[in-house]
Amino acid sequence: MLTGKLVRLRAIEPSDAESIYRWIHDPEVGRYMTGDYPRSLAQLRKRGEERPVNTYENVVLGIESLEAGKLIGVVDLRDAAPEIGRAELDIYIGETDHWNGGYGTEALKLMCRYGFNVMRLHLIALWVVAENERARHVYRKVGFVEDGRHRECHRGPDGQYHDMYLMSLLEPELND
Ligand SMILES: CC(C)(COP(=O)(O)OP(=O)(O)OC[C@H]1O[C@@H](n2cnc3c(N)ncnc32)[C@H](O)[C@@H]1OP(=O)(O)O)[C@@H](O)C(=O)NCCC(=O)NCCS
Repeated sequence: MLTGKLVRLRAIEPSDAESIYRWIHDPEVGRYMTGDYPRSLAQLRKRGEERPVNTYENVVLGIESLEAGKLIGVVDLRDAAPEIGRAELDIYIGETDHWNGGYGTEALKLMCRYGFNVMRLHLIALWVVAENERARHVYRKVGFVEDGRHRECHRGPDGQYHDMYLMSLLEPELND
């Protein structure tokens, strides 16, 4: 179920730390994402080794290109609430030379299908910066709808405030 035509989703390995280190320090990748304070490669390696197992509340998966046979990004479903069947999704393709190749769309569909079929989620939500046109296009294509716009709630690495959309997807709306 977690393998498509272009990608497979798998648990993160400690050896993925080098790629993740490169991606989180790439300003192009982080342009519309909520950043963290800088971390060293050693800190990321340690986190990789101590990473807790995936649970219902927090499922973090690596996106592996089947053709290249390497990790190209990360997708997660977090803060799942069993009483409601709601979780929030984050995704990024860190290898920028893989952007616009269909990888993000497929990874998103696989993760949402997993959320609905295995985790029995009722609704998957996400936040996206208004100017992030590519991501918004992909989310809409997969079936997410815009629930509302939250004004100036994101402060980007550019030091500017940006609006964000809250988007959500119900199971029958998933276009896979
Ligand atoms: C957003 C992201 C996950 C999408 O993954 P991807 O693999 O690049 O996307 P895909 O190749 O599957 O699809 C890209 C689509 O966006 C379209 N697109 C590209 N640039 C666009 C733009 N500026 N405006 C609108 N649509 C655009 C492409 O034409 C394609 O649509 P199509 O398949 O209908 O032709 C990826 O680009 C990424 O990780 N970006 C940086 C981090 C990020 O923004 N993450 C999301 C945070 S909410």
